[in-house]
Formats: sequence, structure tokens, C-alpha cells
Amino acid sequence: MSEISGKLLVWYDKYHRTLPWRIPPGDSKSGILPDPYHVWLSEIMLQQTTVTAVKPYYEKFLKLWPNITALAETSNESVMQAWAGLGYYSRARNLKKCAEYVVSELQGRFPDNETELIKLPGVGPYTAAAIASIAFQQPVAVVDGNIERVFARLFTINTPLPQAKVPIKEKVAKHLPAARPGDFAQGLMDLGSSICTPKKPNCLPCPLQDICKASKLGSQESYPVKTPKKVKPKRRGAAFVIEDMDGAIYLQKRPETGLLGGMSEVPTTDWNSNQDGETDIQSAPFSGDWQKRGEIRHVFTHFELSLIVYHIKVDIRPTLNGWWSAQNEIEGEALPNLMKKVILKATDRKRK
Ligand code: ADE
Ligand code: SF4
Repeated sequence: MSEISGKLLVWYDKYHRTLPWRIPPGDSKSGILPDPYHVWLSEIMLQQTTVTAVKPYYEKFLKLWPNITALAETSNESVMQAWAGLGYYSRARNLKKCAEYVVSELQGRFPDNETELIKLPGVGPYTAAAIASIAFQQPVAVVDGNIERVFARLFTINTPLPQAKVPIKEKVAKHLPAARPGDFAQGLMDLGSSICTPKKPNCLPCPLQDICKASKLGSQESYPVKTPKKVKPKRRGAAFVIEDMDGAIYLQKRPETGLLGGMSEVPTTDWNSNQDGETDIQSAPFSGDWQKRGEIRHVFTHFELSLIVYHIKVDIRPTLNGWWSAQNEIEGEALPNLMKKVILKATDRKRK
């Protein structure tokens, strides 16, 4: 075992985070492994999402669908509803597809190796490595943002990210312990989130301090080196919140594919990238006494959106192709955060 993995595992045994999808390090030492369903579900949710945001969703999903068969057998709609608010909705669609595939083609058992795992819907190289290592003790290097940062500092890697991903993965592989690869990965994640943080890392109690090159040079915060990000293009449009006298809101379903695919929404204009899109009531679904309620901004992966929010209260429900969601039903709708924000802005309701 390398010095890095030895020291890190001793630290992990003592200071690991207790997380609902984890088993204690003592268990993994005696050969007990976590349920692959738990590991898979948590790793999909943790893609580009924080541990704090994921925890309540993970617990809700396990309560609703305690095993992969239950998830495979439920409706797409209930998965989208339960996922609403967690973002990156293609993950929810792929989650369901993956569950169906594992149940119908693999007798409900996840593959135990990277090569087969990566073939599953929604499972990329990072997630395949994480599942193989955490759920099946396979000796594969797992590298997420936390681990990149720790290794870039340990070895003062001057190649900028993303180019540095390959050399970093090689370094991680070199230090991988044969016995507890999953705990090694999760130990590095915990170190990255509690001690080797992006700003002001707390090197004093760090178990790797006497090996760490950046800490010796006092240059921790200069790593990882990154190629500057491109600024995101901006788009704009308008959203139209229609409310009846009982407080029910008109909703419709977005197309199954594409951005926020299969999720619910209030009517909007196109989200125009030329900055000259219609943002006035001319583009409302019908004419009437529309009130402008303000602007909502939302950052997507590839662009920033600004939506002007309009509201109208109607005596008679106009004939449209969607449905009306009563005040006490709106919580359970498959509404992305953007749409929740739009509705709150329009109606002055408080977020629950
Ligand atoms: N981020 C991604 N996977 C994780 C895990 N297993 N534990 C903590 N944070 C994570
Ligand atoms: Fe990170 Fe400091 Fe530990 Fe180096 S010594 S790994 S910079 S916390």
C-alpha cells in the first residue's frame, strides 16, 4: 500500500462522513459490501449535485422504491415528479431506463465491472468507476472534482484542467490500495470536501500534509490549474402564469427530449439566443389583463436564461391542451426549479 493510501484510510476510518448510502468503513474491512442499487442511485444523483442537495432526494427515492424492481415497475411520470427540483433531468429519464434494463435483461443484478457498467443508460466513465470500486471493490481509479483537486495539490500538477485529467487519473491509479478501493475513493472525496477545500484548505490536520508538495510550497490555492471558462451565452424569453379564481395554475408538459424534457412548465415563448426574443404580452397564449411580475434568471449548463414573468387571473378557464394544478397539488408536479421560481414570482406564494 502506498503511503498516501495508508494514511488516507486511517484518516477515513476515523473521520469519514456518515452518509445514507454508505456502509461504515469497518464493514468494508470485513468484506461486507454496500447494496449496488444504493451506490448506483446515489452516484447518479451526485453527478454535478452536492451531497446536501442529494440527501433528501435519495431518502425519498429509497422510501418510494426500496429496490431496483420497484423502480423499474413504477411510471416515468412518478419518477419525474420525485426528481423535480434536483436538476439535470435527463438523469431521471436514464435512471428509469437503466432500472428497466437491469431488471429485464440482467435479472435485477448490476454488472460488477467497469466495462459492463459503462454500457448502462446514464452511467458514464466516472460513475462506472465509482460503482465498480464502491459496490464491488474493483481496483479502479475514481476521479471526481474533489479528487482532482487533492491530487493536483499533492503533486503540484501544473497542466491545467481539463487536460490534466489523464495524468491525474494515472497518479490516482498508482496509489490505489488493492484492498479497499471504494473507501480510498470516498476518503479522498471526504478529504476534498472537509479539509482540502477549494478555498483556504485546512492543511494542519490533513493526514497527507507531510507528503503534499503544494502545502510545502504554500501554493495550495494555486491548484488545480484551470483553463479559463468561456462566458455563457445569454438567452431571454417570457413566461405566462395563468391562475384561476381558486388558485389553480395552468401547466403543460414539455417535449420528452431536449432541455428539461418530460418535465412540466407554464407556457413560455422560445428562449431566444439572439437577445431579441419576444418578451412582451404580444406573445402570450391569449390576450387579456396580463400583469408583469418581474424577471427570473436561471443558469443552465450551456446558457444563462432571463425570463420575464407575466401573470393573469381568469374567471373562466380558457381551453388549452394542458391541465390545471390546484394549490394543494402543485407541490407534487414535475416542475423544475426554474418553473417553481417563475410561479412563486407570479403569485407571491412562499416557497415551502
Ligand atoms: N460524490 C460522488 N460520489 C460520492 C460519494 N460516494 N460520497 C460522497 N460524495 C460523493
Ligand atoms: Fe490539501 Fe493541504 Fe492536505 Fe495538501 S496538505 S492535500 S493542500 S489539505
